[in-house]
Amino acid sequence: LLPGQPTSGQPAYVLSDEAGLGRLFDGIGGLSGGGATSRLLVNYKEPYRSQILDYLFKPNFGASLHILKVEIGGDAQTTDGTEPSHMHYENDENFFRGYEWWLMKEAKKRNPNITLIGLPWAFPGWVGRGKNWPYDFPDVTAAYVVNWILGAKKYHNLDIQYVGIWNEKSFDATYIKVLRNMLDRLGLTDVGIIAADGDWSIADSMIADSQLKEAVQVIGAHYPGTKTVPQALKTQKKLWSSEDYSTFNDEVGGGCWARILNQNYVNGLMTSTISWNLVASYYEDLPFGRDGLMTAQEPWSGNYVVESPIWITAHSTQFALPGWTYLQTVGHLGRGGSYVALTDGKGNLTVVIETMTHDHSVCIRPPLPAFNVTSQNATFQLKGSFASIKELQVWRSQFNFETKKPSFFQKLAPVKLIDGSFTLNLAEDEVYTFTTIRAGQKGSHPAPPPSARFPKAYKDNFNIRNPPFSEAPNFADQTGVFEYYQNLTDPGPHVFTLRQVVTERPITWAADADQTISVIGDYQWENLTVTCDVFMETVKSGGVFVAVRVDKGGQSVRSTKGIFLWVFADGTYKVTADLAGQTVLAEGQSGTGAYSWYTLSITGKGQSVSVALEGRSLWNGTVNLKQNHGWVAIGTSSFQLAQFDNFAVLAE
Ligand code: GAL
Ligand code: CA
Repeated sequence: LLPGQPTSGQPAYVLSDEAGLGRLFDGIGGLSGGGATSRLLVNYKEPYRSQILDYLFKPNFGASLHILKVEIGGDAQTTDGTEPSHMHYENDENFFRGYEWWLMKEAKKRNPNITLIGLPWAFPGWVGRGKNWPYDFPDVTAAYVVNWILGAKKYHNLDIQYVGIWNEKSFDATYIKVLRNMLDRLGLTDVGIIAADGDWSIADSMIADSQLKEAVQVIGAHYPGTKTVPQALKTQKKLWSSEDYSTFNDEVGGGCWARILNQNYVNGLMTSTISWNLVASYYEDLPFGRDGLMTAQEPWSGNYVVESPIWITAHSTQFALPGWTYLQTVGHLGRGGSYVALTDGKGNLTVVIETMTHDHSVCIRPPLPAFNVTSQNATFQLKGSFASIKELQVWRSQFNFETKKPSFFQKLAPVKLIDGSFTLNLAEDEVYTFTTIRAGQKGSHPAPPPSARFPKAYKDNFNIRNPPFSEAPNFADQTGVFEYYQNLTDPGPHVFTLRQVVTERPITWAADADQTISVIGDYQWENLTVTCDVFMETVKSGGVFVAVRVDKGGQSVRSTKGIFLWVFADGTYKVTADLAGQTVLAEGQSGTGAYSWYTLSITGKGQSVSVALEGRSLWNGTVNLKQNHGWVAIGTSSFQLAQFDNFAVLAE
C-alpha cells in the first residue's frame, strides 16, 4: 500500500488533542563523559572536527541534539578515562582544563538553544576531607559543584540549566537541599537539580520529604528499560531517562535507540532521553568501545563514521523541539511497534513511528523481554486541532537487516490526508516521521579520509606555548591527570613538559589504580621501542614508569598488565609485568633521584625485552606474557607530581 490510501476493516489510531495534551517534551541529548568519551575528538584536524560537530549538533542537519550533558571532571577514572577537575586542590581554580568547556561552546555555536547539563562522577580527594565520600561536608561539595556552574558562566558564557548529584551512587537528601539552597542564594534559581541518576528510588524519599521534593526538578533514571514506577509518577515531577543506550553503534544499536526514544515516553512517560555516549571518541579497546551515537576514534587519520543512531535521532529531533508537548494519544501498534505524537501548540504535528523487532533492538541493559512485531497496515486519524491538516512530510528509515542495505532518513513524497486520515504499510524494522514541519534535512559533508592505524612513528616533545587544550594529543589518562606544564626555572631542554598533577586519591567512581597511568597508541603494538624523559618531584618515595604492551584501561585499570620499566627516587629500578608492581621481572640499583631528568627506554621484540636508562642497558630478558600487545603508557608509582618529556615510539 502507498501512504495515503485508506484501508478498511482495521481501527484507526487517533491522534488528537481533544481530551488535552500529555507531558512537555524536554528533548533528546548526548552525554560526553562518564568518562573521557570525547578524548580523541579534540585532536581531529579541521575540517573534520567541525564536520563531526555538525552531525551532532547542527539543527536540521544530523542528530541535531537538544541537550548536551557533560561530566564535571573529578580527576578520577569514570569508564574510559579520567577527566580533569576545575579544582585539583582546595585553593586551585582553573576553568580551561579538559575539553568539555570547548565542546559545550561548539554545541552552543551550532544550536544556541541547546540545554546544558553537568553531573559529577567523581570528586577530587580534598572534597571528602580524606574520606572516599562526598557527603560528610555537604557545603564543601555543593560549593565545589556550584563553582563549576559559576565558572562556566564567567569564563565561557555558558548557562548550565541542570546539575546532577553523584552519578549512579547514593544520593544524600541533606546534600541535595544544601545544593538547592546554595544555588538559590547565588541567584541560580533557574538551574534545575536532576536526581539521582540511578534507579527510581529517590521518588520514595521525595514523597516522604517535601523539602527534598521541592529541591529536585527532574527525576532522572538510568537505563530504565522504557518503564517508570508508580512512586515516580506520584511525585508529578518531570521524568527523564537521564542516561540510556550504551549499545554498540551498529544497526542493532540504531534499533535500540529507535525503540527507546519512542517507548521511554509511551511506556514510561519520560520526556527526555540522553545517550551514553555522545560520540565514541576513545580508543576502541577501552571499555564499551563504540557505544556512541557516532564514531570518531581516529584523529590521526581524520576518519569518522556517521552511524545509524545519528539518523534515528534526526527522526525526532529535527521535527519536535523542547517546549513541544506530547499528545495523550500515543501508544503501541496492533502488531508491535509504537508511535508518539507531539505538537508545538500552534497547529504543528509530528508523529514518529517505529517497528523495531526484538532481536534488532536489544540494548546493553536491562534485559529485553520477548515481544512480536510483524508487518502491518496502520491508519492514523487526525482529530481536534489536527483534523484540518491536509498534507504531511514523510521521512523513512529502513534497517533492511536481511539485505544488509539499510536506508536511513530518506525523504519521501508528502502524504495527502483524506478526511484527516492516512494509511501506510509498515514493514518490520522501520522508522517513520510524519510531520507538518518542512525544515528537515539529511545533512552531509564530503566523505572523510579513509581509516588508518595509529602512526608507527610517533613523537611529542610537548613544546607548545599556548596549547589549545590542557592535555597532549592522544594520551588517554586512566588514573591521574597529565597536563602540559611550563618549567620556568629549567635552563632550557625541559621548559615544556607533560606533568602528572593529581597528588591525592580522588573520591572515586570506579576502582582507580594506586599508580597513575596514561595510555597512548595502537593496541595491536607488539614489537617497538619507546623512549621518554622522566623527572620525579618527590624525594625518597618518588617513582615513574614507561610501559609497553599495556593491556587494560577503564574500570579494570588496577589489574593492568604489560611491561613496565620503573625508576625510583631512592636510587633503584624495577621491571614489572603489571601496573600494581606485583610481578617483578628484574630489579636493582639505578642511581636515580628526584629533581633530575633521565631517559628511559624499552624495546620489545617477540619474547625478548631490553630496557635502558640514559642509553645504558639495565636489563635484557625473555618475557612470557599472556598478552603480547597493547598500548604504550607513562605514569607514576603513586599520586605524586612528576614530569615527562620527549616521548617517542617507533613500532614495527
Ligand atoms: C553507566 C555509566 C557510564 C558508563 C556506562 C557504560 O552506568 O554512568 O559512565 O560507564 O554505564 O555502559
Ligand atoms: Ca619539551
